[in-house]
Amino acid sequence: MNVLITGGSSGLGEAITRILAKDPNNQVYFTYNSSLSNVEKLEYELKNTKGIKCNFKNLDEVNLVSEQIKDLDLDVFINNAYVGEPIKTYFHKISTDVFSNEFNETIIPTIILTQAAINSFRKKKKGKIITILTSMLLNAPLIGSSIYVANKAYLESLVKSWASENLKFNITSNSVSPSFMLTNFTRDTDERILQQMNDNHPLKKILTTREVAETVLFLTQATQQINGVDILLNSGVNIK
Ligand SMILES: NC(=O)c1ccc[n+]([C@@H]2O[C@H](COP(=O)([O-])OP(=O)(O)OC[C@H]3O[C@@H](n4cnc5c(N)ncnc54)[C@H](OP(=O)(O)O)[C@@H]3O)[C@@H](O)[C@H]2O)c1
Repeated sequence: MNVLITGGSSGLGEAITRILAKDPNNQVYFTYNSSLSNVEKLEYELKNTKGIKCNFKNLDEVNLVSEQIKDLDLDVFINNAYVGEPIKTYFHKISTDVFSNEFNETIIPTIILTQAAINSFRKKKKGKIITILTSMLLNAPLIGSSIYVANKAYLESLVKSWASENLKFNITSNSVSPSFMLTNFTRDTDERILQQMNDNHPLKKILTTREVAETVLFLTQATQQINGVDILLNSGVNIK
């Protein structure tokens, strides 16, 4: 199958790229912004991978990739990239520019690329969209996470619209909601908090990118009967 994953050269995205590229029958395209050295490493190690530069802050680049999508003959499109940091400050202290910038830099590119993927899937009457959300949608939001959680909630709603609007075209839209993983995204987390999280975890083991990638792999191979579903990876700490 042909897959395109956004932000596929680092963090969770890299784990997904690697697990999908294990199958030589798969062609894995991934977008990247800053992780160029990882791109070169991935393309060298895994000949069925190809990086595509796409800075979500540059709409020309996003529109160019959206144009390219129709030539990739995709079977699966994975929304993984997020531009911004998960924790800022209290909601009432954040200027409105920060809200609109993060929306424009994460949600609008995600919309542009997903529209292109859906257009291409509709032509072939087949396709899968997988979107990475967060388990933070379930819990009382952490202080400082208002923009991040609101943007993910916006995507959560779009995931459902994509599922219901396209089911007659044999296109599915599902999501995966991971709990905390150690990546660049969470690199500022204090050592003591990490230790506390590990100690308080029911499995005494923080979720790994590998475990989430395995879940995404499952969805890429799953029956089209699974549609509009979210898979929560939080060891049952909170149950929907
Ligand atoms: N880590 C967690 O605890 C956690 C928990 C739940 C959900 N998630 C979700 O998992 C997904 C991946 O996050 P991660 O933890 O793997 O963090 P990460 O390592 O920081 O990955 C973020 C990805 O977004 C891309 N990105 C950043 N700025 C970009 C820009 N301007 N234009 C285009 N792409 C850009 C990065 O690409 P480059 O490296 O090439 O710049 C990178 O691949 C996100 O959707 C995040 O919300 C993470």
